[in-house]
Amino acid sequence: MPAIAYVNGKFCPIEKAVVSVEDRGFQLGDGVYEVLRTYHGRLHAVGAHLRRLFRSLDAIELKHRFTAGGLERLLRQAVRRARFKDALVYLQVTRGAAKRMKEFPQGVSPTLVITVRPMELPPPEARQRGVRVITAKDVRWLHCDVKSICQLPNVLAANKAKAAGCYEALFIASDGTVTECASANIFMVNNGVVITPPKSANILGGITREEVIALARRHRIPLRERHITLRQLLAADEVFLTGTTAEILPVVCVDNHRIADGKPGPVTQRLYALFLRHVG
Ligand code: PDD
Repeated sequence: MPAIAYVNGKFCPIEKAVVSVEDRGFQLGDGVYEVLRTYHGRLHAVGAHLRRLFRSLDAIELKHRFTAGGLERLLRQAVRRARFKDALVYLQVTRGAAKRMKEFPQGVSPTLVITVRPMELPPPEARQRGVRVITAKDVRWLHCDVKSICQLPNVLAANKAKAAGCYEALFIASDGTVTECASANIFMVNNGVVITPPKSANILGGITREEVIALARRHRIPLRERHITLRQLLAADEVFLTGTTAEILPVVCVDNHRIADGKPGPVTQRLYALFLRHVG
């Protein structure tokens, strides 16, 4: 079954989908996006993803006529058409196609693109044995809470990670605190307490991050949102990352430094079991 795309009102096979060379997403990175997935054919956390999308659209002052109900119907329609059991769903809105200028163009409609493709899960050994990450200087802008399509620092960091045989890149701010990964949020566990950096303009408020926090609270697993220095992370009992594609993935090595005994820890495993029940 082929992956499908939706572009401004029309569905087509993904290879046939095109946008204008004058699209501001293509030329200026002037847009925002969401990545969702389905479990057993059902969209997961669609409400939370759409709320974040509308916050991103407001943050970049992108005028539009989308409604949450309308976009949700469209996403469901796309998922139904694609008929994948577990699908990765990408949604992008740009300020539209116009003669190139930095300021907002007048009288232009936004470009809406949705793609649905089979979900590629992290390899089973990543989950069983944990993954390695490398650190990268966080050189991103001051609005990382906006899910902007301008992903160049993330692209460079992710590629550096891949070249080093690592699963992810972990961003380190200039004050020595860890912010998040190129495509995921970061957590550590110390003496049974789960710790993750607080929501701020320096990180994306991950939907999976929120789900993990809610699960920990519901199951009385102690949790704190506070800044984490790289030094504290390296000394943690457990480290894991969270994201729509990664779900909850144990991190066992940071820059060749082994975390604890170098094996996925019990709190990470418990949270993942709770997460699987939650999405199942
Ligand atoms: N990224 N932080 C960053 C920088 C991210 O790009 C993502 C997700 C997350 C996790 O957010 P969530 O739990 O809502 O997926 C955190 C998606 C998957 C991507 O860009 O492909």
